[in-house]
Amino acid sequence: MTGAARNFFILALLYGIAGMLLGLYMGLSQDHSQMPVHAHAMVLGWLMSGFFAFFYHFFPAIGQSRLATVHFWLTAASGIILLVSLYFLFAGNPVVEPVAGIASMAFFACFLLFVWIARPAFSRAG
Ligand code: HEM
Ligand code: HEM
Repeated sequence: MTGAARNFFILALLYGIAGMLLGLYMGLSQDHSQMPVHAHAMVLGWLMSGFFAFFYHFFPAIGQSRLATVHFWLTAASGIILLVSLYFLFAGNPVVEPVAGIASMAFFACFLLFVWIARPAFSRAG
């Protein structure tokens, strides 16, 4: 894997490690208050980043585009800020709520960017 595919793959692995450690902590401590952070780290982090990694791997021309690099960095930044702010929110710090809100919208905007980037794959020839 190279470029955006490799970056997303590494990001997915890091989310998986962090998310599962949090899940283990939740199970061991029987404190499930961080469940939404664990759930999003696993699906928004590990599964979505893994999906992007294999998408860019199987469509290398799209994966090597400048926009794919932009997609990686904006997705990584907004996703990490979203999860870290959610962690503090569920730990009892409502002051970070606007940060989580802005990061959520940025993460959604990144997904729309991906829809645009991926459009050549919609074609039957892709
Ligand atoms: C080390 C492995 C894992 C541990 C110890 C673990 C632990 C937990 C715990 C304790 C909960 C809270 C359950 C509750 O409060 O109802 C939970 C929820 C959840 N976990 Fe994990 N988990 C692990 C791996 C995963 C993986 C691999 C995924 C997905 C790829 C995942 C996705 C979720 C989701 C989506 C929820 C929320 C479920 C709901 O909405 O009720 N977890 N996990
Ligand atoms: C734009 C960013 C997102 C926002 C603002 C958001 C918001 C939320 C909210 C408010 C809940 C309910 C939590 C609760 O009742 O405790 C939730 C649950 C959930 N979301 Fe998201 N979500 C986002 C992105 C995603 C994505 C991209 C995925 C999957 C790839 C996802 C998967 C889930 C799952 C599995 C649950 C159930 C687990 C739980 O209750 O924590 N979310 N989300």
